Amino acid sequence: MRTPIIAGNWKMFKTVGESLQFVQDVKASAEVAGVVSVICAPYTVLPALVEAAKGTSLKIGAQNLHWEDNGAYTGEISGAMLKDLGVEYVIIGHSERRAYFAETDETVNKKVHAAFKHALVPIVCVGEKLEEREADLTKNVCLVQTKALFQGLSAEQAAQIVIAYEPIWAIGTGKSSTAEDANEVISYIRSVVADIYDSTTAQKVCIQYGGSVKPGNIREYMQQSDIDGALVGGASLEAASYTQLVEGAQ
Ligand code: 13P
Repeated sequence: MRTPIIAGNWKMFKTVGESLQFVQDVKASAEVAGVVSVICAPYTVLPALVEAAKGTSLKIGAQNLHWEDNGAYTGEISGAMLKDLGVEYVIIGHSERRAYFAETDETVNKKVHAAFKHALVPIVCVGEKLEEREADLTKNVCLVQTKALFQGLSAEQAAQIVIAYEPIWAIGTGKSSTAEDANEVISYIRSVVADIYDSTTAQKVCIQYGGSVKPGNIREYMQQSDIDGALVGGASLEAASYTQLVEGAQ
């Protein structure tokens, strides 16, 4: 059985003080049984968040990593550094990183390998642009991105991956995919994993939906057969709404 994961992606929001206040406010709700609760925060607040989350069931993640352990890569952060802080999760290949920071399927795959090297759980984002959806290319795009991210991974590693299906047109727009549509694409992604490995492995992979998930629609997604939680941007920033998301995923 897969345990649903609610992961907040804070993107480029929150200072240390704001982050600590958030943990204070959500501490109790992170204890909701049967849901894994993760906050993926900017690098600058990670040490304080890891410390504040100790003794709670809130897990802390980063939003990116470099694939090398160290080197002359100005401005980059490695998996070794994240592990050293006590971070447990890392988002890889978010569409904003693919669009604005030249991430490719190849670098996404290198980063997934780096995450495993340092025992970080990768949350890998896939999803189509609006024009791709309109051209009926959603499944093709997800096929290519999914195949690429799993390159060179063992079945044992593959089973530990978290995939976030995030249609790009639904991110931050308030235009969410219907739960049925999201479930159809997510079932398809699971079938791609089954083709690469086997159905036992595919059944273990946690696949989230992301894109304008709110307290008001989380339950619709959770009722679907193949959706294992959500990767949430805007609605994860306020403690009250994050709490409702975690409760709604139960
Ligand atoms: P919103 O929830 O703000 O649409 O963002 C989704 C997202 O990009 C999560 O990674």
